[in-house]
Amino acid sequence: MEKDYSKYFTPSLKEARKRLNKEVEMIKYDMPNHLKNIGKNKFYLIKTYGCQGNLADSEKIAGILEQLGFSPVDDESAADIILFNTCAIRENAENRVYGELGRIKSLKRHRPDLLIGICGCMPQEENVVNTITRMYPHIDLVFGTHNIHKLGEYIYDAYLNKERVVEVFSEEGNIIEGIPTKRDHQTKAWVNIMYGCDEFCTYCIVPYTRGKERSRLPEDIINEVKELALQGYQEVTLLGQNVNAYGKDLPSGEYIFANLLLDLNEIDIPRIRFTTSHPRDLDEATIEAMAKRGNIMPHLHLPVQSGSNTILKRMNRKYTKESYLEKIDKLRALIPDLALTTDIIVGFPGETDTDFQETLDLVDKANFEGAFTFIFSAREGTPAAKYEDDLDMSIKKERLLTLNKVVNDGYLRGNKRFEGKTVKVLVEGVSQKNPHLLSGYSEHNKLVNFPGDQDLIGKIIDVKIEKAYTWHLRGIIESDHS
Ligand code: SAH
Ligand code: SF4
Ligand code: F3S
Repeated sequence: MEKDYSKYFTPSLKEARKRLNKEVEMIKYDMPNHLKNIGKNKFYLIKTYGCQGNLADSEKIAGILEQLGFSPVDDESAADIILFNTCAIRENAENRVYGELGRIKSLKRHRPDLLIGICGCMPQEENVVNTITRMYPHIDLVFGTHNIHKLGEYIYDAYLNKERVVEVFSEEGNIIEGIPTKRDHQTKAWVNIMYGCDEFCTYCIVPYTRGKERSRLPEDIINEVKELALQGYQEVTLLGQNVNAYGKDLPSGEYIFANLLLDLNEIDIPRIRFTTSHPRDLDEATIEAMAKRGNIMPHLHLPVQSGSNTILKRMNRKYTKESYLEKIDKLRALIPDLALTTDIIVGFPGETDTDFQETLDLVDKANFEGAFTFIFSAREGTPAAKYEDDLDMSIKKERLLTLNKVVNDGYLRGNKRFEGKTVKVLVEGVSQKNPHLLSGYSEHNKLVNFPGDQDLIGKIIDVKIEKAYTWHLRGIIESDHS
């Protein structure tokens, strides 16, 4: 019996906001036999936008597609299926995708058999699904963040029905274990430790697009990291929108993020990183676990968003400028060489010049060594989208420029402290800017370029830093490696 997609499961932000505390189901992924080989002799291309969460999802999507028999291809015109894994965090992220969806229309006109799909965070918004169903008839497949594991069925139905397949669930979410993963890198890997977010910062769409906070079982994470270590991976980045809430939703509630870090610390893999931390939830146990060092890297991304207590309150961030600064004092007391980076939003509705000055003051005091900076973007369905916002865009842009100048000084200052020192670099490949150089990241997550032989790619080596620039360090390999 074919499924009737005329009764679309479409998203509802209102539904997605609900937290009914329905028990999280752990579902084991399974690929029905009749789906295997539907992609035989066919090619796929995935275009990924947004955060590491999406990069990790795309690796699962690729894993499923390869299980279906599809092979990867870089060239759009050779692809039989093109999937856009999208991000909804800011309006410009969405506009970029709409532009691409429009552009791809001509490809479809020449090749009617081409299957085009959109997934990720954008389809979790009802206005997006409405726009796509009305204005982008060449999109064959629409699914969201909760049903990647059903991709095989959707493709099967799309081929069989020749009908548009739309299925987006606005649910709190489950955990699907065992989806095959086709990883992009051979040396570093993403490992989801939890999904969703319950913070509901007033500007943010993520709690609506990703469902409630739900943690994977410790043993599933530990086994995945052990397996990666056996496969020769050098670095693992633990992913969650608020990793410091890890474990709080698990039955015992006693095994928290710090416990996980300590257990991973025992595994023979050179580097463990994690993102993202929430300043309120980052606890002493985590700081102490980080201070043990070993394979836990001395870099922390701790988004502050604003330095004004009024704005922080209206953002629903649940900490103050003072408590944030106190927390980083604690961090630096135990990890003096810590590299600290952050995210900052300017032009939040109602941000006065005094509020903005508070942000500059905080940046000055916090000694960040990098920051992603954004102009506030109103996201339909979030509380802040309704806040009165009478500040001129030109002023917001000016604030962003002013902020970026001090942030860039921080990047340079953070890099300068390594001049003359020897750092350990995980070599990732040939430098994108200069084919004669190799590049990789230091333990403090600094980009390092240096001349060297390509057979060093994938290894961790000592590099002596000769000069620091704003965006990278330049060095030479320590002699005992050359
Ligand atoms: N969970 C992470 C990251 C969320 S998205 C965290 O809490 O830090 C990454 C960054 O995008 C956020 O830290 C925030 O700075 C920015 N961001 C989120 N929503 C935004 C919006 N509506 N407008 C502008 N920037 C936004
Ligand atoms: Fe968004 Fe806040 Fe959750 Fe981060 S913590 S994903 S900014 S709601
Ligand atoms: Fe974007 Fe969704 Fe990540 S909105 S930032 S892709 S969680």
